[in-house]
Amino acid sequence: MLYSEKVMDHFLNPRNVGQIDDASGVGTVGNARCGDIMRVYLKISDNGVVEDAKFKTFGCGAAVATSSMATEMIKGKSVSDALSITNKAVMDALDGLPPVKVHCSCLAEEALHAALWDYAQKNDLMIEGLKPPVSDIGDHDEIYA
Ligand code: FES
Repeated sequence: MLYSEKVMDHFLNPRNVGQIDDASGVGTVGNARCGDIMRVYLKISDNGVVEDAKFKTFGCGAAVATSSMATEMIKGKSVSDALSITNKAVMDALDGLPPVKVHCSCLAEEALHAALWDYAQKNDLMIEGLKPPVSDIGDHDEIYA
């Protein structure tokens, strides 16, 4: 089987699909090479805890599964702890992805970071370790190889 049971579960029953109308931060990234797009919405409390996370995607099954897992993992975390949700952590939580699908998990990670960045910009905050988002992860394939 190419995909783990967890990947199939999150693909077939994705958690947190949708949008948050009064989101604290929204991030949208794409990968021009495959044409997939991901948008993440975060609701963050006044004391900096992620209360809710939702996503919408025009993306492949691996992008759906990784975003579903990533949004589950970020809920309840502080914004600084949210940075520990790397694409690798998400893949591990899903019991892995085939090598050709690793870049899809980067779409989820980048969209989370872009939403955190948006939140930080709107609130004039610095989040230690958070870098400005990229809009096209395909420009950074060397990083995500
Ligand atoms: Fe594009 Fe998976 S093939 S995100």
